[in-house]
Amino acid sequence: MSYEELYRQSIEQPDRFWAEAADHLEWSRRWERVLDVSAAPYYQWFSGGELNTCYNAVDRHCENGRGEQAALIYDSPVTGQMRSFSYFELQDLVARFAGVLRTHGVEKGDRVIIYMPMIPEAVISMLACSRIGAIHSVVFGGFAAKELATRVVDADPTLVISASCGIEGQRVIPYLPLLEEALTIAGVENLPRVLVSRPQLPIEDVHPAAVLWDQAMEAAEAVDCVDVLATDPLYILYTSGTTGQPKGVVRPSGGHAVALKWTMDHIYGVQPGDVYWAASDIGWVVGHSYIVYAPLLHGCTTILYEGKPVGTPDAAAFWRVIEQHGVKCLFTAPTAFRAIRREDPEGELLRQHDISSLKTLFLAGERCDPDTLHWAENKLEIPVIDHWWQTESGWAMAANPMGIEPLSIKAGSPTVAVPGYDIRVLDDEGMEVADGETGNIVAKLPLPPGNLSTLWGDRQRFFDAYLSRFDGYYLTGDAGIRDEDGYIWVMSRIDDVINVAGHRLSTGALEEALATHPDVAECAVIGVEDRLKGEMPLGFVVLNAGAEVDVAQLKSELVQTVRSQVGPIATPRDIVVVARLPKTRSGKILRGTMRKIADLKEYKVPATIEDPAVLDEINEALRPD
Ligand code: COA
Ligand code: AMP
Repeated sequence: MSYEELYRQSIEQPDRFWAEAADHLEWSRRWERVLDVSAAPYYQWFSGGELNTCYNAVDRHCENGRGEQAALIYDSPVTGQMRSFSYFELQDLVARFAGVLRTHGVEKGDRVIIYMPMIPEAVISMLACSRIGAIHSVVFGGFAAKELATRVVDADPTLVISASCGIEGQRVIPYLPLLEEALTIAGVENLPRVLVSRPQLPIEDVHPAAVLWDQAMEAAEAVDCVDVLATDPLYILYTSGTTGQPKGVVRPSGGHAVALKWTMDHIYGVQPGDVYWAASDIGWVVGHSYIVYAPLLHGCTTILYEGKPVGTPDAAAFWRVIEQHGVKCLFTAPTAFRAIRREDPEGELLRQHDISSLKTLFLAGERCDPDTLHWAENKLEIPVIDHWWQTESGWAMAANPMGIEPLSIKAGSPTVAVPGYDIRVLDDEGMEVADGETGNIVAKLPLPPGNLSTLWGDRQRFFDAYLSRFDGYYLTGDAGIRDEDGYIWVMSRIDDVINVAGHRLSTGALEEALATHPDVAECAVIGVEDRLKGEMPLGFVVLNAGAEVDVAQLKSELVQTVRSQVGPIATPRDIVVVARLPKTRSGKILRGTMRKIADLKEYKVPATIEDPAVLDEINEALRPD
C-alpha cells in the first residue's frame, strides 16, 4: 500500500488502523474501545484493554522461539566491556530484579526514579518496573542534583535506582554525591535505594537505606508480569518547558506499545531479528523508545552503547560498532555526525570498516542542517533520514516512511506527516496558512496512540501548555512550514526551549540558576547557533547597582553555577555583562532580537521596544568589530 493510502486510512479510519496494529501484540484483555472520545479533548486509546509491556518486549519472544537470540548487546568502549544478553537471560534478570523491587515495597502504580549511566542494569530496571506495573522515571545522568531533586519531589517515588558512577570519555563521574544531595534537597534522605557498585568506583560505605544490586539479586525471586490497563502510565519522563519547572510527560502503556511496534517496520524498515542501534541515552525519549522499548517489542537486537561518537577512542567508534554487531539501522542526533565529520572530514576512518550491514541512518532530536545530511549520505552511501518528534509524542510525527514507501528526500525537511498525525500549520489567530508560509506547527486532535496522555499530577498544565492555544489542536511548540508537496519544515521553537547537542533545555531553568548569584540583578539566556552542538546557551547578566566585580571571575562563577545547578550539558558558551536588557514596553525581554544579533543576522528594531539604545549596547558586546 502506498504512503498516501495508508496515511488516509490512518486519519479516516483510526479505529481500524490502530486495531490492526494492536493485534501484533499480546493482550490479556481485549480493549473495549480503540479510540475513546468520551472525555475529549483527553482522548484515550484501547480503553478497557489490559496488557503488560515487559511481557510483550521480553517474555513473548522467549515463548515464541526467540529466547536464544541476543536481545541486548552492551558495548562499552569506556570500560572495555562487551556483553550480550539473550532474551532468555534478559527475562531471568528482569524477573528477578522485579522481585527485588517487590521486596522493597514497590507495587503497581508506584513510581521509581532511575538515575543511571548507560549500563545494562538501567535497561533491566526499566523493564522490571514495567513488569510489575510500577511507573519508572529515568533522569538523565548529566543533570545536576537540583534538577534531579525537582523530579524526585514531583514524582514522589517509592524507591530510587542508581549507580556509583558514570564514565564520560576518560573521566569517572561519581553519581552518589549528586544523588545524596538531590534526596536531601527533596527532603527524602532515607528513600530506599538500590545501587550498582561499578568496579571503576566501588561503593565502600553503603547508606543505611541502600542495598547493593548484586547482593539484592542473589537473594531475589523471579516474579511474573502484572496486567495493567492500556491507559495506565508506563513511565513519566520529564522534559523542559518554558519555565524552570520540568513537565512530567505521562506515557500510557497500551498505545505506546502499539505505536512503537508499528514504527519499527513502517518507519525504520526493520524486521524481528535485525540489529537496531539508537546511539542516544536512556535518559532521553529517544533512548526510552528506541534503545529499550521499540526494538524489544519488535524482537530485534538492541545495542546499549556506553561511549561517544568521538574520543572513545576515536571517530571510527560508530563504524566499529556497526561492523562488529551487524547493525542494520542506526538512529542518532545530527550533532553526533557533526562531531565525527569534524574529526574525520574525508571519512578515512570509515573506509577501514565494513559497514555493509547498515541500510539506513535516521537522525532526530534537533534540526538537521543539509550540509551534515549530505556529508552523511555521501560517506555512507545509504538513505539518511531526518525525522521529527519530541518527548511528548514518543515517536516520529514526520518522517520518510522507509518501510511503507521511501519518498524522495528534501534536505532540511523531515519529509511528511507520519500516519496517525494530522499535521497543520496555523497562524496566530488559528487559521491555516497557505503552503510554504511559516506558522505554528500543530496536530489536529486526536493524537495517535503512544502520545502523552497528561502531565504527571497536573492535567491543567497539560491543557494549558498543549491544548488551549488552538481549540481542537495539539501545540507542538515548533514553528515551520508545510510545502506544496506536503513536506514539513521545522524551523524553530515558539517558546524559550533550546536544543543543545540534541538535549532539550529550558532557558528558564538556566536563568533561575544565574539569578541565584548574589551580584546578578537580572538575566536572560538565549540559544545561539553553534557549529557542533546546533545551539549553545549564551547568558546576559545585569549586575546589582554598585557591585564591584572582576568580570573574568564572575563569568567563571556563573558558568559553574549553571553547571552545578542544571548540569554540565547546559554549560553556557559565554556570559555577557550588560547595563540593561532590551525589553518591550510591557517588560518582555526581546530574546528573538538578541538572538539575531548574536547569530550575526539581520534584525529589525521591534516597534514595541522600550528603549532602542539598549540594542546598541548588546550589539557592541556581541559584535565588537
Ligand atoms: N553524565 C554526566 N555528565 C555528562 C553526561 C552524562 N550522562 N552527558 C554529558 N555529560 C557532560 C560531559 O561530560 C560534558 O562535561 P564537561 O563540560 O565537563 O566536559 C558536558 O556534559 C557536555 O556534554 P556534551 O554536550 O555531550 O558535549 P561533549 O563535548 O562531551 O560531546 C558530542 C559532544 C557531540 C560528542 C556529544 O554531545 C554527543 O555525543 N552528542 C550526541 C547527541 C545525542 O546523543 N543526543 C541525544 C538525543 S538523540
Ligand atoms: P525532545 O523533546 O528533547 O526530543 O526535543 C524535541 C524538539 O527537538 C522538537 O520539538 C524540535 O524543536 C526539535 N527537533 C526534534 N527533531 C527535530 C528535527 N528532525 N528537525 C527539527 N527539529 C527537531
